[in-house]
Amino acid sequence: MPGQVGPVVASAPAKVILFGEHFVVYGVPAIVAAIDLRARARISRRDDELIRIRAPDLGISGSFSQDGHFLPELGREGAEGTLKPIFIAVREVLRSLGVSSGLDVEVRSSIPIAAGLGSSAAVAVSTAAAVHWLLSRRLDRELVFNAALEAEKLVHITPSGVDPAISTYGGLLRYTKGVGIEHLKAPGQLELVVGDTGLKRSTGALVSAVRALRDRRPSRFSSILEAAMELVAEALQALGRGDLEALGELMDVNHGLLCSIGVSNEALDRLVHSARRAGALGAKLTGAGGGGCMIALVEPGMGQDVARAIEEAGGRAFLAKLSLEGVRIEAAP
Ligand code: PMV
Repeated sequence: MPGQVGPVVASAPAKVILFGEHFVVYGVPAIVAAIDLRARARISRRDDELIRIRAPDLGISGSFSQDGHFLPELGREGAEGTLKPIFIAVREVLRSLGVSSGLDVEVRSSIPIAAGLGSSAAVAVSTAAAVHWLLSRRLDRELVFNAALEAEKLVHITPSGVDPAISTYGGLLRYTKGVGIEHLKAPGQLELVVGDTGLKRSTGALVSAVRALRDRRPSRFSSILEAAMELVAEALQALGRGDLEALGELMDVNHGLLCSIGVSNEALDRLVHSARRAGALGAKLTGAGGGGCMIALVEPGMGQDVARAIEEAGGRAFLAKLSLEGVRIEAAP
């Protein structure tokens, strides 16, 4: 069998969606940025056929047979559910290379979980990349994206693919489901503050609730989709001009559209309004909503003030820097 014994370490970034979450599931392009929080996967070869996965940050571990049977080891009830997407990412890479190999997988991440920052995709992308490098000494981004997308299907049922795409390719992207990515040029200073409500939520449940709304109110939903499509087109123009004020205003409108499909809540609205009051150019929830995170676009140098206001309103805030690099191999023998 080709490849090495390892270990190989790969890392992949978290993301914030600037425009178009939820609507991206229905074909509207999303504008999405990779940020400087990363997940890391460390992979080495085993002598047997097991895929053993450890997530020390979560205190869970267990092994999967090649056909997906789970043998628990450490941790709480839901260990299999949490580790299975990582196994799927591994299995997809093995399948596409046509090999079977036992592997030790260790994942660590500095990305808040279930908060709308793409932590599950970053874990799947870094895992797929490390396995691919270990077995073929190549980093095929399309293959990594596809493997992580399969893993995401287990987590989100009908993912648009925006999370694995940005985590794989990095930078600032326009992503259209079923079409692909286009790299965008970021205006010189894109200063973003992230505010975390601390409320965990399930992307799959929120995406299902939006689908139920579409089925119940098809004509209202299609007008909202149309508005979202126009909004993203305007945001692309504003980005092209480097017009931060217009971008901020459009983010406010985007938050309004997300409220209209029922995915915001009081905690998110409170943080959004506190950021605007503190002088943000615009603010919106980011990701699936229902809790998790919001983002604020601020004038260069204003980040600390807005972060403070978000914290005073009960959130945990941090300044996010754009990560130009997507998935990368950190270490290999
Ligand atoms: O998992 P989150 O919270 O980053 O949300 C992903 C973005 C959605 O548009 C809500 C779902 C999707 O698959 O695009």
